[in-house]
Amino acid sequence: MPTFHPHLLAGKTAFVTGGSSGICLAIAESFAAHGARLMLLARKQDKLDAAVAAIRSTGAVAEGFAADVRHYESLEAAFAKTSELFGPIDILVCGAAGNFPAPINAMSPNGFKAVVDIDLLGTYNTCRAAYPYLRKPGASIISISANHAHQPYAFQAHVCAAKAGVDLLTQTIALEWGPEGIRANVITPGPIDGTEGMRRLAPTEESRRNAIASIPLGRMGAKQDIANLALFLSSPAAAFINGAILVCDGGQRLNTGRNLSLAWETSKK
Ligand code: COA
Repeated sequence: MPTFHPHLLAGKTAFVTGGSSGICLAIAESFAAHGARLMLLARKQDKLDAAVAAIRSTGAVAEGFAADVRHYESLEAAFAKTSELFGPIDILVCGAAGNFPAPINAMSPNGFKAVVDIDLLGTYNTCRAAYPYLRKPGASIISISANHAHQPYAFQAHVCAAKAGVDLLTQTIALEWGPEGIRANVITPGPIDGTEGMRRLAPTEESRRNAIASIPLGRMGAKQDIANLALFLSSPAAAFINGAILVCDGGQRLNTGRNLSLAWETSKK
């Protein structure tokens, strides 16, 4: 794995939603390993406690705040607490997300709403509530999206709608808050191994093989692949990157016709 300077984020404060597990925990751990103080926000207290303890065991500074990104007032309280403990927020990662595969007709209005509320409204709530506490100039916002934002996926209507919104919302923030020295960018991970998302979307060996077959680089991403991109975006090296959608998917997005090609390849055997 490539490494960055160990003090890359020394003295910085990072706030990560969805930070108790998966990609966002890996991002938080990488930030901490490079000198940042961490505030993790997630729904479940036990997972949050475990994540905070794991980061503290490396000697880094970490705190947790149990809250649901669908509740604006909880986020206001979380940012007030963070500012009281650590001062202004330098890095904000909007990563809390929900997903379950289901056809549109088997998805209740409340099921559709649950995912849109967590992913899209949650990103809005997080950025809106963070704004007074963001370092100006200098703060970096990262939203975690998916290829669903620009390509329809069957059985993922809620995620497609939500992530398309996340991309445009983040770019609008880049436009409105850029003049104050706040950058806002999107990271679009492809299939990442060992995540809740992949456990839900590719639960069997066969579905895993199909997912890998759709990736030109021939492997799933590692959580560290995404953490490396988040580190870069949060560093001075990315000072002129604002409103960008950075896809980190091994080239999977190029493979829209892959399922058809696979069917054709299979038919020849
Ligand atoms: N198929 C169809 N509908 C489903 C479903 C499934 N597999 N799972 C949940 N739903 C529906 C529920 O039935 C409910 O609708 P209803 O009130 O009409 O019955 C609605 O979604 C909300 O479910 P609930 O469990 O009350 O919501 P929640 O807020 O506790 O959980 C989810 C949100 C549904 C997104 C849940 O999957 C979750 O918490 N996910 C977080 C982890 C995650 O998804 N990680 C992967 C990120 S890529």
